[in-house]
Amino acid sequence: MRIAIIGAGYVGLTTAACLAELGHAVVCCDVDRERIADLSRGRLPYYEPSLAPLLRRGLESGALAFTVSTSACVAQAEAVLLAVGTPSAADGGVDLSQVERAARDLAPHLSPGAVVVIKSTVSVGTARRLRETIAEARRALDFSVASNPEFLREGSAVGDFMQPDRIVLGADDARSADVLRAIYRPLEQQGLPVFVTSCASAEMIKHAANAFLALKIGFINDVSDLCEKTGGDVLAVAEGIGLDRRIGRSFLQPGPGFGGSCFPKDTRAFAATGRRNGAHQPLVETLIARNEDRKLRLARRIVRQARLSRGARVAVLGLAFKAGTDDVRESAAVTIVAALQREGMRVHAHDPRAYDTARPLLPDVQIEETPYAAARGADALVILTEWDDYRSMDFARLAADMRGTTIFDFRNLLPPDTAARYGLTCIRLGRRPEMPAVEAPAQKRAAFPGRSAAAPGHG
Ligand code: NAD
Ligand code: UGA
Repeated sequence: MRIAIIGAGYVGLTTAACLAELGHAVVCCDVDRERIADLSRGRLPYYEPSLAPLLRRGLESGALAFTVSTSACVAQAEAVLLAVGTPSAADGGVDLSQVERAARDLAPHLSPGAVVVIKSTVSVGTARRLRETIAEARRALDFSVASNPEFLREGSAVGDFMQPDRIVLGADDARSADVLRAIYRPLEQQGLPVFVTSCASAEMIKHAANAFLALKIGFINDVSDLCEKTGGDVLAVAEGIGLDRRIGRSFLQPGPGFGGSCFPKDTRAFAATGRRNGAHQPLVETLIARNEDRKLRLARRIVRQARLSRGARVAVLGLAFKAGTDDVRESAAVTIVAALQREGMRVHAHDPRAYDTARPLLPDVQIEETPYAAARGADALVILTEWDDYRSMDFARLAADMRGTTIFDFRNLLPPDTAARYGLTCIRLGRRPEMPAVEAPAQKRAAFPGRSAAAPGHG
């Protein structure tokens, strides 16, 4: 099928490359000229594992092409997928200006019978509204509007697109349903579940799914706080409740607060939809406030528990909102670092991927090339992203390089008992700290095993 995709961001580009791989003829357009020039040469604009080979194959076979021209992209396409940004509006609702602008721009160039598919995350009722926008701009009703929300995660985008738990198709007419099914036929033939419903339900499914997953994270973060007061290890609790299939084990990892370009904005949008329509969503309203507050509480905790005074040096490991991406949008790390700086801390940070993306947001942070360079002379060390690189750190080296002895492991990556053998106090989330007192550097060094015995972190 001939498919046009508007927007070459995380969702548009993954969708374009995967649909080309599945045998469709795909043209993808973006207003960002530099991005399109790079993509046409096979260069990815951001870090996403497994996407580069698909991009290359699509370009080589001719199944995938890029353009900055909406008219060239849309002409002859049977389906036009909208994958532009939908940021938060001032009241937390969805700012649909990019979607509406793209719809107005493409309207005159649609071929008769084409289906415009909203892949961006939008509020319920957007498909209906877009039908009117396009009809007005086109002065004809020879097209359909459908909904196909996307559930991929950054860092595993290709796998999530090709092997989704389900494909949700929102169609209010038979033509839309047929075209949507044809797009995903190669995946449906592999036995992947396809769920066809109305546009309004599909739109609501997307926001409700993200709100529910975010609630799971918010819940385990609260349980984690409780375990720290009462005893019990949150990881054991998460495992123990997650083994109940009605609860499930995923999305129960405690952390510094969820971030990224989606959960924060989509929970705000879900809550705003409730307020606008007189069906308040108090669970999600509370979740949003608690998640924001959590980041600030953790920043205060670092200062208090490591007894840091103004001018102290803090090493922050991990700036991306999660591992596997260089995306720092609404990353907990960005908020926590800013809060530490307000308390007078000097921050040296490391992230294996998110250095260029983080730099403009954190101009006063020294971004180092290795975790050990960040740790050098640090009075405390904080882990905020669950990169594998940090799991296997050399404690002997950290202990020798740091000035202080406290590690705040806010992703629960490190074995505290091993850290303790090197004189380091490793504070994990959701577990009562066994060694809360900060030791003097002299005592710490006396407690080291010799360098020859030094094993990588998990040893
Ligand atoms: P993004 O910011 O990475 O990409 C959006 C792209 O659209 C940008 O490159 C921008 O230049 C382009 N664009 C904007 N207006 C345009 C126009 N008129 N014509 C052509 N291009 C235009 O955004 P994203 O992360 O890919 O998210 C896109 C949508 O998908 C959002 O609604 C988001 O909520 C949703 N979503 C995102 C993810 C994710 O993991 N990032 C997952 C599921 C759903
Ligand atoms: C999320 C959803 O998982 C996708 O299904 C959805 O398509 C996407 O949003 C979207 O709508 O755009 P993503 O933002 O890429 O995907 O990342 P997640 O893996 O969901 O993580 C989001 C945040 O929650 C991260 O900050 C992560 O560290 C945090 N998290 C996640 C936890 O703190 N604990 C967990 O158990 C899981």
